[in-house]
Amino acid sequence: MSMQYLADKGMEYAQRAITADRGGDYENAIKYYKIAIEFFTKYLTLYPDSPLSDLYRELISKYKSRVKILENKMESSNRIQDSQIQEPENAFEVLYPGKRPSRKFSDLVDLEEVKRALKRAIIYPVINPSLYPLGWPRAVLLFGPPGCGKTELAIALSNEINATLIHVTPATVMSKWLGDAEKNVKKLFETARKLSSTGTPVIIFIDEVDGLFQQYSAEVGGEKRARNQFLIEMDGLSGKEYSNVHVFVIGATNKPWALDIGFIRRFERRIFVPAPSKEVRKMLFEHYISKLAKTYKIGNLNYDLLADLTENYSSADIVAIVKEVQSNIVEEISEKKINPQERVISTEDFVNVIKKHKPSIDSSLLEAYKEWSKQYGTLDVF
Ligand SMILES: Nc1ncnc2c1ncn2[C@@H]1O[C@H](COP(=O)(O)OP(=O)(O)O)[C@@H](O)[C@H]1O
Ligand SMILES: [Mg+2]
Repeated sequence: MSMQYLADKGMEYAQRAITADRGGDYENAIKYYKIAIEFFTKYLTLYPDSPLSDLYRELISKYKSRVKILENKMESSNRIQDSQIQEPENAFEVLYPGKRPSRKFSDLVDLEEVKRALKRAIIYPVINPSLYPLGWPRAVLLFGPPGCGKTELAIALSNEINATLIHVTPATVMSKWLGDAEKNVKKLFETARKLSSTGTPVIIFIDEVDGLFQQYSAEVGGEKRARNQFLIEMDGLSGKEYSNVHVFVIGATNKPWALDIGFIRRFERRIFVPAPSKEVRKMLFEHYISKLAKTYKIGNLNYDLLADLTENYSSADIVAIVKEVQSNIVEEISEKKINPQERVISTEDFVNVIKKHKPSIDSSLLEAYKEWSKQYGTLDVF
């Protein structure tokens, strides 16, 4: 079967499914989504490297979750004949303190300016709201290259103020909420308000917020309304309903330029989370290698060299490198059946791994962040 045939058939059935879905004909919608999934899956098996394969993969997962939702809907409407009310599946996760990693600001290497900006924007207002007759920011955007601590910062921040963290991933929002998206955005903010009414601060963390703006080849129509609803809800944050509670929206993105201007404006603080400088890379190596030192003997390492060799490596890259060294050492001592303490870890162990590990930060993008920051970054500490 040709590539074009499979792609066309897949799209044809996807369209049929969406039409049925919109019309409330769930039975046919499920049937057609499944056929579309089959065509796209066959396409991926035969042409895994096609430039369109990512798109089809995304569609497959979107349709699969939609099928699941529709199947649930049908099942429960069979069960409860007289009630049409259907709880939408949550596309967000409420992470109470204790139900998430316990790291705090002090566990994150450097990022001092970002931490300071977050203290000013969120921590001090939570601790002492009466000192802010003019109010405080309600929404903060963290932007910067991937793997440099944005998600970690959001988690650490919620631990600093013991906030309830509501974790939202737009990719999930948009796929799980096909058709229901708008209603669910309302529900998200309602949940936040409810959770904050007991006095606990609530952080709605929208990770990879640019995902809200992806173009879907087959918009079901809910996406635009969902985005508008987000804007309305974010405007509401500075209104009466929220005046006595602490609800914050934190967005994180590697692609700030993909955001809509309306959205950008609603984030009152826009904070750049930079790639680690040479000095910081050195600190990151020291930080993670010191954990290895609990189990292994560490030689006299040339940390300056490691930092020099890792220009354009993200913090995540450095974590990955140290972990790879750990795997190598474990393999070696297991194979040679030696005691961990006999194998001294050397600079060379790291250099060998670095050579094989490409940096994940595209240096040309750094310029783009700088430009975007100049245009939209908020002053605060920058
Ligand atoms: N400042 C830091 N100190 C220690 N580890 C860090 C730091 N920044 C990032 N990391 C590590 O790098 C990885 C990726 O961080 P993450 O917050 O997920 O990046 P992002 O959200 O910006 O893509 C995580 O494993 C995290 O522990
Ligand atoms: Mg992240």
